[in-house]
Amino acid sequence: MAETQYTRQTVLARTEWVPGKLFSLRVTRPEGFEFVAGQFARLGLPQAGPGENGAPASPADPAQQPAPTVWRAYSMVSGAREPWLEFYSVVVPEGQFSPLLARLQEGDGLYVDRTAFGFLTLERFADGQDLWLIASGTGLSAYLSMFRDGEPLRRFQRVVLVHGVRSAQELAYRDQILAWQREAGTLDGQQRLVYLPIASRETLPGAPQSRITPLLADGRLEAAAGLALDPARSRIMLCGNPGLLADARALLKTRGFAPGRRGVPGNLAVENYW
Ligand SMILES: Cc1cc2nc3c(=O)[nH]c(=O)nc-3n(C[C@H](O)[C@H](O)[C@H](O)COP(=O)(O)OP(=O)(O)OC[C@H]3O[C@@H](n4cnc5c(N)ncnc54)[C@H](O)[C@@H]3O)c2cc1C
Ligand SMILES: NC(=O)c1ccc[n+]([C@@H]2O[C@H](COP(=O)([O-])OP(=O)(O)OC[C@H]3O[C@@H](n4cnc5c(N)ncnc54)[C@H](OP(=O)(O)O)[C@@H]3O)[C@@H](O)[C@H]2O)c1
Repeated sequence: MAETQYTRQTVLARTEWVPGKLFSLRVTRPEGFEFVAGQFARLGLPQAGPGENGAPASPADPAQQPAPTVWRAYSMVSGAREPWLEFYSVVVPEGQFSPLLARLQEGDGLYVDRTAFGFLTLERFADGQDLWLIASGTGLSAYLSMFRDGEPLRRFQRVVLVHGVRSAQELAYRDQILAWQREAGTLDGQQRLVYLPIASRETLPGAPQSRITPLLADGRLEAAAGLALDPARSRIMLCGNPGLLADARALLKTRGFAPGRRGVPGNLAVENYW
């Protein structure tokens, strides 16, 4: 990538959600970097050298900084008007990029492409009354940015946020989501923001131990939300694991949900993370 296409930013803060697996980074925001909630940035780092566990991200002399060689897409967690960028990441131990990103500490450098990309944005839906935001793992990131802007609850009567993870400890940002839920209040005696955390490898109080897809297939997700999926009024986003997304998309097709095509607004939007 040409040097003019990216800028070097600095890590401001780091949150460890699950040691060795899940963390967030807050970094300085490049001047002029604009995005819509739901979009992603391309992040770059220098490749680890032979025998190294990653090249130092911030040598004292900026002229000595190694150029970025590995790039990956990361959804913004921060809102479009926040003064920094925030990212939420999994560590794939055998991956080329995420173990390097996981090593960064406050003050370290991170390269950010000047342009934001992506189409998982609420602009995709022209209308609709209920918004369903369904994520596995770090797929939650894109939705957090939307909530930080406030758009889901401004535009939709009800919002259902489904977060599928392996275990309870991976329910990152849970307290923040519960605070948004309290702020959103109720409509006709029901929560306007329905938060459905789902764990597949342990039992959460009040929720079945399951992946998301079986719950979508047999109606338990709708029952838990207290809301029916209706192609005329529901708008659905899916983000994260491509296996989940493929199965959910096929299931939803039978229920009348499909992404938009040129000129025809859809009621489904999907973003695969790999
Ligand atoms: C549009 C878009 C947005 C993305 N946003 C995020 C984000 O906000 N946070 C984030 O952690 N990742 C995100 N990713 C994935 C990210 O780009 C990297 O793939 C990931 O960080 C792993 O990089 P890696 O080089 O270590 O492994 P890679 O070689 O990229 O991936 C190796 C394998 O790891 C698994 N894997 C990759 N990403 C994930 C993931 N997020 N969760 C679980 N398993 C995974 C898959 O099995 C994949 O085949 C996004 C990807 C896309 C396309
Ligand atoms: N587990 C660890 O301790 C650990 C530690 C460090 C890093 N990692 C890395 O973390 C990555 C996995 O991250 P993750 O757990 O956030 O993502 P994930 O594997 O996509 O799992 C997230 C949720 O999606 C479910 N799921 C997976 N495939 C599905 C499918 N085809 N259909 C429907 N649901 C599906 C999972 O259920 P299931 O539980 O049934 O799969 C789980 O509930 C791996 O690459 C691994 O290398 C793991």
